[in-house]
Amino acid sequence: MTSRTLAQGIVDRIAQLAQHSEEPGVVTRRYLSDAHRRAADLLSGWMRQAGMATRLDAVGSVRGRYEAERPDAPTLLIGSHIDSVRDAGHFDGNLGVLMGVTAAQHFRDAGRRLPFSLEVVGFGDEEGSRFPTTLSGSRAIAGHYDPAILEEQDKAGITRRDALTAFGCDIGAISREACDPRKTLAYLEVHIEQGPVLEAQNLPVGVVTGINGARRGRVTVEGAAAHAGTTPMNLRRDALAAAVEMIATVERVARGTPDLVATVGQLDLHPGAVNTVPGRVTFSLDIRSPRDHDRDAAVSALRSEFSHIARTREVTADFTFHHSAAAAPCGQRLIDALAGCVRHAGIKPHLLPSGAGHDAMAFHGVIPFGMLFVRSAGGVSHHSAEFTSLEDIEIAAKVLIGFLESFEPASFSRPR
Ligand code: HGY
Ligand code: MN
Ligand code: MN
Repeated sequence: MTSRTLAQGIVDRIAQLAQHSEEPGVVTRRYLSDAHRRAADLLSGWMRQAGMATRLDAVGSVRGRYEAERPDAPTLLIGSHIDSVRDAGHFDGNLGVLMGVTAAQHFRDAGRRLPFSLEVVGFGDEEGSRFPTTLSGSRAIAGHYDPAILEEQDKAGITRRDALTAFGCDIGAISREACDPRKTLAYLEVHIEQGPVLEAQNLPVGVVTGINGARRGRVTVEGAAAHAGTTPMNLRRDALAAAVEMIATVERVARGTPDLVATVGQLDLHPGAVNTVPGRVTFSLDIRSPRDHDRDAAVSALRSEFSHIARTREVTADFTFHHSAAAAPCGQRLIDALAGCVRHAGIKPHLLPSGAGHDAMAFHGVIPFGMLFVRSAGGVSHHSAEFTSLEDIEIAAKVLIGFLESFEPASFSRPR
C-alpha cells in the first residue's frame, strides 16, 4: 500500500472510533465505559486484520503482537490511548495506536518479519477522566501499578476494582502484565502535539525531548452556608469567595514561575442555591513543569497561601494530591534515531518538550521511550476542533515505518 493509502486508512479509522462515545454528538470515552469496550473491540478487529495476535489485558488495555522472525527476539512497544477527556477531539491518543497497527499491517502486507516483535497497545486510562489516578494501563506494563488505586471511586461511587471486573478483567493477573525490561527494547509513542509549536515552525512532525512532570489534586474549602439576605458580609464564612481568592493565587504563582503551568479545570460548590452563601467548594488543581523541584516548590507555596487565606476568612482548606508523575526525559538514542528518520523523510528535525502528559512517561526509569509529535491545527486539543491533516499523518507514517526498518535491536538490548 502507498503511504497515502495507509494514512487514509488511519483517518477513516479515527472517524470510526469517534462514533463510540458516552454522550451523543461529542466524543467522551472514559476508562472501562461501554464506549471504551466498543472502541476496544473495534481496535482488536483491526489488529487481527493486520496479522496480530490480540488480547485484552488485566487492566483493560488492548494488546496486539506482530511476532518477529525469531521466537526469542525482543519486543518493541508502540502505544497510546483510546480513552478521552469529556467532549474531546478525535486524534488525541487514537492516532498513535492506529499508527502502530498500520505499521504492523504494512510489514504483514509486505510479507516481512522484523528482528523484534512489535507489540501495539491501546491504553484505556491515560486521561484520568473517570478515576483520580491516571496512566494505570502503562504503569501496569511498566511494572509499577499501585494496587491501592483499585479502591478509588468514580463520581457514581463505583470502585476501579468493580469497574475492571465488570469489564471482564482478571485483577489477580495485573502484576503479571509487567514487561521484562531485559526483553523489551523500548516504548515508542506517536501523538498529536496538542500545542502551537510545529504549526508555528511550519513542520508536520517533531521529535520529543521529554515530558513535563505533573501533579493533580483537589482542594476542598469548608465555610458555612447561610441565608443570602439576612447574613451581614462581616459575619459570613463564604467558601466560594475564599476559593476564588485561592484560585487567583494559583494563577499568580504559576505566572511567576518560568515554564510552570497550573490549571483549575473543575469546580463544584454546595449547596448551589442563588440565595444561599456557598458553604463548601471543591476545585481541581493540575500543576506541571519540566523541572520537578519547581513544580513541588509551587505546591508548597500554594499550600501556605491557601492556609493563610483560610485563616483570614475563618474557613478550612483541605489540599490533597492523588496523582503525581515525574518529569521524564526521552531516550537520547531514540531522539537521535527519530530525528534521523525525520531528516530522511525530507523534513527538518525539530526537537521540543511535551507540556502534555502521555503514557510514555510511565516507562521512565524502566525502558527507554521516544515520542514523535504530529502537527495540531491551531494547536488545538481536548476540543472537538482538534485536527491533524491527512498529509501530516502520511509523513508521520513514513517516519514511523522508516524508524522500524532502521531500528537496531542490538543497540538497545540489555543484559538478560
Ligand atoms: O493531561 C494531559 O496532559 C494528557 O492529555 N492526559
Ligand atoms: Mn489528552
Ligand atoms: Mn493524549
